[in-house]
Amino acid sequence: MILEAKNVSKTFRSGGRGGLAVHAVKSANLTAARGEFVAIVGESGSGKSTLARMLLDLHPASEGTIFLRGVDVKSMSKNQRRDFRRTVQAVLQDPAGSLNPRKSVSQSIGEVIRLHKAANTKRDIRQKTLTALELVGLDPASHYLDRFPHELSGGQRQRVLIARAVALNPQIIIADEAVSALDASVKAGVLRVMADLQERLNVGYVFITHDLPVVKKVADYVHVMYRGEIVEHGPAQEIFQSPQHEYTATLLDATPSLDALDGAAPTAPGASAT
Ligand SMILES: Nc1ncnc2c1ncn2[C@@H]1O[C@H](COP(=O)(O)OP(=O)(O)OP(=O)(O)O)[C@@H](O)[C@H]1O
Ligand SMILES: [Mg+2]
Repeated sequence: MILEAKNVSKTFRSGGRGGLAVHAVKSANLTAARGEFVAIVGESGSGKSTLARMLLDLHPASEGTIFLRGVDVKSMSKNQRRDFRRTVQAVLQDPAGSLNPRKSVSQSIGEVIRLHKAANTKRDIRQKTLTALELVGLDPASHYLDRFPHELSGGQRQRVLIARAVALNPQIIIADEAVSALDASVKAGVLRVMADLQERLNVGYVFITHDLPVVKKVADYVHVMYRGEIVEHGPAQEIFQSPQHEYTATLLDATPSLDALDGAAPTAPGASAT
């Protein structure tokens, strides 16, 4: 077991003390481990991103604790925190801010490699960058090094974001709506890349989405959030076959068919990325 949220809550207060309280997450429990695809699903505003931000130690929890390998993130030493920042990586939906528009692919990836001291010499940094790009199916990797974000498709940009995370040898990747904005076939390609990294590098995922067909396709374990609470959790198969909570049943009823995803051409690393 690697990353754990234990009874974490997050309350936002508007207008300072005494202001209106929003209980974005209420006493949530979740564990993520290497090699496992854990999904968080739920409607908009149910608290998914807030929980993700606490898992990434971007928001402190109002209550409860985030542990990495049993160590409370709040009491981590400088070295442990550095290890946390490298071990637990985020891949977010491709918002304009995730990749600097003025930096080439090699600059964007090289920068985090240098920052985290994952490699030191120019040559090693370049090699690590190329390997990461190959791992996400951007092949030949050298063709992408000098490109800028606007010279890439949405799917390619998302792959670069994943490559940037992967360059640091993470154990867990927290992906918040990482494929939600992509077309079905492009989405299938990026999901294939993520599954491939799970297999080859034993990366674990906390995969956040409101897209149930995607969850059905990739998740091992599912947490269903509703109004800040995890109302149901369990192995994906069980959740999909016999949802226990009324909200989950409603959610599943509203799920479109999987045809669009299943019909999409697979994109293995090495195949061309769209
Ligand atoms: N920084 C903040 N300050 C105040 N309220 C916030 C803040 N961040 C989130 N919230 C509130 O917390 C609740 C949960 O938001 P969150 O972003 O976690 O939902 P979500 O499940 O990720 O939704 P979506 O699917 O739309 O991304 C919402 O009511 C939101 O308005
Ligand atoms: Mg969100």
